Amino acid sequence: MSSIENFAVVGASGTVGIPITTALLSAGFHVTAITSSTSTSTSTFPPSVTIARVNYHTALVARFMPSEFGIDLAGCCDTQIGALLGQKREIIEYLGKLAGKYDWFTWTALSTGSFIDWLQYFVSHFTAYIHIVLKPTDMFEMHFENKMARIYDSGNKLYYPSTLSFVGKSVAAVLKKPAETANKYLTVASFTTSQREVLKIVEEMGERFQFIPGETSNLEIIGDEKMARGDGDAFVEYLIRHVFGDGAGGAIEDNAAGLLGLEEEDLRTVVKRVLSEL
Ligand SMILES: NC(=O)c1ccc[n+]([C@@H]2O[C@H](COP(=O)([O-])OP(=O)(O)OC[C@H]3O[C@@H](n4cnc5c(N)ncnc54)[C@H](OP(=O)(O)O)[C@@H]3O)[C@@H](O)[C@H]2O)c1
Repeated sequence: MSSIENFAVVGASGTVGIPITTALLSAGFHVTAITSSTSTSTSTFPPSVTIARVNYHTALVARFMPSEFGIDLAGCCDTQIGALLGQKREIIEYLGKLAGKYDWFTWTALSTGSFIDWLQYFVSHFTAYIHIVLKPTDMFEMHFENKMARIYDSGNKLYYPSTLSFVGKSVAAVLKKPAETANKYLTVASFTTSQREVLKIVEEMGERFQFIPGETSNLEIIGDEKMARGDGDAFVEYLIRHVFGDGAGGAIEDNAAGLLGLEEEDLRTVVKRVLSEL
């Protein structure tokens, strides 16, 4: 399989698009940022990025990476969150069919777990909002102004988050290994951890939080009520239930970081960085 040199990023100005673009540039790829002709984004890109404003149309693409970057679809088939992610599942099936039909087409999907950076993201961008409600984060619910942290269920359920920079590096690593990653759904993560493990590290760094116990058992009902009202925010309840609720699953079974030649990150270092950026 020939090597990949050029990669187009759709949504390069988005939450995931920015670290992916950064990592691709660092790894030496030529990046084209594809933005819709109707986009209102005011994002700017490094000078080496080619910007293409397009009406989306067909193109010959040797490797397609869908906008996956979330929880492992195989691990949530029979859950409400799994149902909400049905379109992502359909895309993977469709890509499989295309790869079977065209020998020039390949795909790779990356499940990356939740983004641990979003603690910082929520606090810096939605401070007013989290004053009003306890906004869930990917570490756990933390109310920084009042030093309150919500721990769901036992807090010991394992989950596998990634940093946004790790997501970017993983995409670049996939493209550096086109043969090994062709037509695969891979799961990567910065590390496997639990709410209590993260909180312990936060406290060892001198932060003190009041705990608010949270139950995930009724979150599906709350989510279902929201869905009945047409409120897609039900995603949050379903996600918390799936990621933090006690029960089976949680630990990453086969971290593809090894296949991609990446090392897992150090949890303590990441928590320290996220806290320093608040
Ligand atoms: N694991 C996690 O914790 C987590 C968290 C958030 C997101 N995600 C996943 O990451 C992926 C990307 O999410 P994101 O938050 O980065 O997205 P985003 O910031 O909402 O959107 C990124 C950009 O995509 C472009 N875009 C939006 N809709 C589009 C469409 N229908 N067709 C083509 N381009 C479109 C827009 O760029 P232009 O205006 O330039 O066209 C937009 O700025 C999704 O699959 C999402 O589920 C995972």
